[in-house]
Amino acid sequence: MKNKIVWSTIAYSLTFFLFANSVQIIPTSYYFEKAKTDLLNLIESVKHGNDLPMIAGTVRVAFHDCIGKGKCNGCIDHSLSSNKGLKRVTDRLDALYDVSYKGKMSRADFYALAAVIALTRSTANVPDKYDGLKTFKVGRKDCNTSPVDSETNSDFPKGSDGTSKTLGFFKREFGFNTREAVAILGAHTLGRCHLQNSGFVGAWVDNRFSTALPGETLAPTSILDNAYFRMIVDIVPWIQVNINGTRIQWQEPKNPIPNDKLPESKRSPLLLNSDMSISWIITPTDNIGTVSCTPTSRRNPCRHSNAHTYAKLYAQNNAFWIKEFTRVFNKMISRSEYKLKKVPKTNSYEDSYFDNGKVYNDAEEEVF
Ligand code: HEM
Repeated sequence: MKNKIVWSTIAYSLTFFLFANSVQIIPTSYYFEKAKTDLLNLIESVKHGNDLPMIAGTVRVAFHDCIGKGKCNGCIDHSLSSNKGLKRVTDRLDALYDVSYKGKMSRADFYALAAVIALTRSTANVPDKYDGLKTFKVGRKDCNTSPVDSETNSDFPKGSDGTSKTLGFFKREFGFNTREAVAILGAHTLGRCHLQNSGFVGAWVDNRFSTALPGETLAPTSILDNAYFRMIVDIVPWIQVNINGTRIQWQEPKNPIPNDKLPESKRSPLLLNSDMSISWIITPTDNIGTVSCTPTSRRNPCRHSNAHTYAKLYAQNNAFWIKEFTRVFNKMISRSEYKLKKVPKTNSYEDSYFDNGKVYNDAEEEVF
């Protein structure tokens, strides 16, 4: 028995050395369960007031990791301006991954799982639960230079983009139809925009539409619910404000002072052009995203886009949206060069104690 273990450890190490990143790794249930616990602890350990910023951070990482030719591949190019702000999240994830999970599961699986754990945590104390763990599969392929990105040609959307570019991005990149694009953008109920990252300032939601039950202490920006759609649909008069001369964002007219001129506690919720696009036809007239219409203008009112039907539907029914979001988010994070699998239910002594992850070659045959 001892010899067998020694030889399989040597064989595994050699195989891993030779074929790192070019073989499919399927984590065993032992490491998968351990990763779930470690990730939850990590998410809970970073606090900013009532916010758990790793919730929004890991969800954004998962999205950005799945954009581009390599699909979800555990590689982020931090030199790209679209990825600004992700490093503070990936540094924490990578520190945990490199010490405890390298060789046991791919980094791409680890990033995707982090987001799923974060979303699960975010609905722990609200009536409508995110249950994406049930459908979560593993076996994503890392790029050869993981965690550093080796392909720089990724096509990132911009907050200044109008309706056709925003919906076009989701169609081209993920094959999402309009309904799916609207559903996935509801992720912006989480987190905020930072001047130093994107140049936009503020959070998408405040507590007016939060579905949090009494006693919930998490901030609305850490809770996954349809507050984002209700902000867009129920508060019609949004106006454009100029941030720092370089960005245009939408705020409520009752608070027309641009958020960058206000302390955090006085800021208004914001929408980007890409968010407005799920309700209105937004056609920017310059490269910072100026739009000639506003929803309530008498002379030049914006017209509703086709996507508005779905934004309204999601605003009216949180449980329905959570269900749709769960399916679409899973579709997004399942983009992989390898066929994904459920985590095998193995609890044998060898698997749980000595296991180093199951390694499969490209044809998905088990190496050992
Ligand atoms: C048209 C598509 C999208 C655009 C233009 C866009 C744009 C942005 C921008 C500009 C920020 C602010 C970053 C910062 O300043 O720190 C942001 C944050 C965020 N995005 Fe998106 N996004 C899009 C789609 C998505 C999708 C599909 C998801 C997830 C499914 C997502 C999840 C998030 C989250 C959770 C944050 C908050 C991050 C934090 O607080 O740290 N976004 N997005």
